Amino acid sequence: MAGPGNSGGILSPGMLEGLNREQKAAVEHFGSPLLLLAGAGSGKTKVLTHKIGYLITEKGFRPHRILAITFTKKAAREMAGRVEMMLNVAPRSISTFHSFCVRVLREDIGALDRTFDRKFIIYDQSDSKNRLKDIVKRFNLDVREADEAQKTISKAKQAYRGDVVQHIASLPFPHDRYAEVAQAYERDLERSNALDYDDLLHYTTHLFASRPAVLEKWQSRYDFLMVDEFQDTNDIQYFLVKLISDRNRNNVFVVGDPFQTIYTWRGAVPENILKFGRDFNAEEMRLEKNYRSTRKILDVANIVIGKADRMWADKILTLHTDREEEGEVEYRSAPDHDAENRRMAEKIVELSSVCSYSDIAVLIRLSFLSRGLESTFMRYGIPYEIVRGLAFYERAEVKDLLCYLRLMANTRDGAAFTRVINTPSRGIGKKGLAAITENFRTDWMQALGDTRLSRKQRTGADRLMEMVSRHADAVEEKPYTVLMSVIRELDYLVYLEDEYGDDHEDRRENVSELCNVLLAVEREGRPFSEFMEDSLLASDQDRISGEESVKIMTIHAAKGLEWPVVFLPALEEGIFPSERSVMNRAALEEERRLFYVACTRAKERLYLSSADYRMKFGRTSRMLQSRYVGEIRRCYSRK
Ligand SMILES: Nc1ncnc2c1ncn2[C@@H]1O[C@H](COP(=O)(O)OP(=O)(O)OP(=O)(O)O)[C@@H](O)[C@H]1O
Ligand SMILES: [Mg+2]
Repeated sequence: MAGPGNSGGILSPGMLEGLNREQKAAVEHFGSPLLLLAGAGSGKTKVLTHKIGYLITEKGFRPHRILAITFTKKAAREMAGRVEMMLNVAPRSISTFHSFCVRVLREDIGALDRTFDRKFIIYDQSDSKNRLKDIVKRFNLDVREADEAQKTISKAKQAYRGDVVQHIASLPFPHDRYAEVAQAYERDLERSNALDYDDLLHYTTHLFASRPAVLEKWQSRYDFLMVDEFQDTNDIQYFLVKLISDRNRNNVFVVGDPFQTIYTWRGAVPENILKFGRDFNAEEMRLEKNYRSTRKILDVANIVIGKADRMWADKILTLHTDREEEGEVEYRSAPDHDAENRRMAEKIVELSSVCSYSDIAVLIRLSFLSRGLESTFMRYGIPYEIVRGLAFYERAEVKDLLCYLRLMANTRDGAAFTRVINTPSRGIGKKGLAAITENFRTDWMQALGDTRLSRKQRTGADRLMEMVSRHADAVEEKPYTVLMSVIRELDYLVYLEDEYGDDHEDRRENVSELCNVLLAVEREGRPFSEFMEDSLLASDQDRISGEESVKIMTIHAAKGLEWPVVFLPALEEGIFPSERSVMNRAALEEERRLFYVACTRAKERLYLSSADYRMKFGRTSRMLQSRYVGEIRRCYSRK
């Protein structure tokens, strides 16, 4: 099959230059669907990028008619940059699933025959959670059910089984109970001309599946479809890929690595890769060689992934390299987390004479670990940047709790008051808050006391006032003691679980870390207000950022990326693998894949570490070394 329109573009050997035989074969493959399965760092993304260039220069495809889908916006930007460098044209059709869907809906949402229009707004998770909370209350359900309802609705949208409400009604108990809630929620969204995240995919798929004219229009805009990180697609994304490519089945190229599936907790279906092979009758190619990492790093990766579930036995892709350098893998255990962070900082300072700070990344399993790193790096003058995800003191759970303490220390603190008044919920909405604000004379407790409220709101308000006044005297000198008490009184950990479901474990650890910090403040005899001032300033000014900085990020966010030097700290049971996963086989398998993803980010040096003791909620806990460290014992030197 020939490419569309003008062929025989500028002959550019550049597109194949520097690629190995298998990579070239994948770039040149044309005329039938292709599945490229290969391990980490073998050049999958590179092949995809070169293939875009090849199709343009050799096959005469027009840049904007090649749709390439990547997992994150960052990956999309990087890929567009690489193609632009090769060709001097900026490809406009590299996007994520979500941004592609937004593009479709901005143009064609009218065809849905609903009242949505193109100016729709997009609700994030917490917007839709708040709407659902109001709705479950209207149905006289416990507000905590909002979380379950949200999950049920989200799953129903992702499953794409026709009408969402009807689908939920047909589910087994207890999910069917949410059909009415879902209906009210859908109406509410439509009234606000709003879509939630799942709607973006759901409505686009629905449009394509039910409006042939719309589908044809979008199909005819693209001559080629490519998808990177295919192992992390979910059902609806898979279906969408099928719909878009239906007219041009032969011009589809997907790449993936089943062993890097790390998003099943968000609905990714690794079997989609096998399904793609069958459904599309795709040719399958492999890449054998790893170009990213040195030998020792690959040994670690191979050992860990060698123990993975055999479900993928015939797909196991052992990584090997032709590189001469052995590289370095080192493991250190430290007496406690402070010592661990200090050693890491010392090592980074040492390395900074031979490489740039931006060659270094610290990958963490849970985001709470960034707090200790931040303060240590600051002390050592190491420039760092927390990538994707907020700095510790900006995290919702940390802010919530600190705002309680701030309000106790100063009842005029308006920002603190507005934050805590409904967190956790006391049923005081915007109107209630407006009335309280109106009554403000001397301070917020006075305003709260002077405002007329419903009985239920009054009970909540009185409890808050009582709690604030009871701790007011102690907070300055005993912030840790007060914090522990506030967490208990608010049942804050249960609230986190209800509110955040999926990542509450991570948030819980942040709360624990805040306890540890305040314990130190209390022990040192530093006043709480002074500590607050320092930590606010620290997050604004002391942080040195810019390109030349060590990157700190979660492993999930590091997917697809690489650095010459990678640190993997806190390799302890209960952290990596995480506490929740230890009890669940499937989750434990995913942790193993996550570890594989983590070590394969490193090109030359991999530094592993763990602490014997770590503070949890202000108490010292004995930690056990992670099972992965034991498994790879023969690969590392011990310092
Ligand atoms: N033929 C090659 N010659 C030299 N370097 C290569 C070659 N192929 C790939 N590389 C380099 O190897 C590294 C890994 O490539 P790439 O990111 O494309 O791998 P990947 O398979 O997509 O990895 P991941 O599974 O982590 O997404 C990159 O630095 C890339 O430039
Ligand atoms: Mg890649």
